[in-house]
Amino acid sequence: MSEYLIAPSILSADFSKLAIEIEAVTDAGADWIHVDVMDGHFVPNLTLGAPVVKCIKPHTGVPMDVHLMIENPENYIEDFAKAGADYLTIHVEATENPEKTLKAITAKGMKPGITLKPGTPVESLWPFLNLVDLVLVMTVEPGFGGQSFMEDQLSKVTQIRKKLNEINSQALIEIDGGVNAQTAKLCREADILVAGSFVFKGQSVADYQEAIKALKDAKHV
Ligand code: DX5
Ligand code: ZN
Repeated sequence: MSEYLIAPSILSADFSKLAIEIEAVTDAGADWIHVDVMDGHFVPNLTLGAPVVKCIKPHTGVPMDVHLMIENPENYIEDFAKAGADYLTIHVEATENPEKTLKAITAKGMKPGITLKPGTPVESLWPFLNLVDLVLVMTVEPGFGGQSFMEDQLSKVTQIRKKLNEINSQALIEIDGGVNAQTAKLCREADILVAGSFVFKGQSVADYQEAIKALKDAKHV
């Protein structure tokens, strides 16, 4: 059984010293850096955009995992490609044409991902699974860090895994929202765990390292 990859979400980092935070979680063993992009329309919160991704990219060697919680993501693909995003994930609810958008992400040299809100049926992803490298399952309502893990979303992971196997897809499954050392034990069918507040509640590289290790260990207990 392979280990979880851990993607700290910089949403909970100290934005006044973002470069230092990125370097610290990288040194602490982060496998990916998760970047939450919010537009105040698709979700009721504003965060950051491609210029910030461009600034932090040189501060880490690990993949930039960009989660777009924005309407009409098709309008921003080129910006994120130029900024250095490696994975670019869109919400199935956010665009009229997910297929075209996912193909455009691939055409720009990034790995496309798809995700859905907790209230959206998992079947809405089926037409797009053959186009993605990543499927993200939200275990909180998107918009804010620090919320509680929605256990009822885990059946989606089981169903997605089954579908991916059926179509011989190697796409990775990522879980995002409310992940901590306890809830991580419930995520064994996933490949990647996003964690914001659980990692960044720490103050130092050693704290971040301990949090990342606790998440990885949760797969084996
Ligand atoms: C929520 C974001 C998450 C969030 C996770 O909209 O997609 O990535 O930062 O934060 P925690 O781990 O605190 O739930
Ligand atoms: Zn996210």
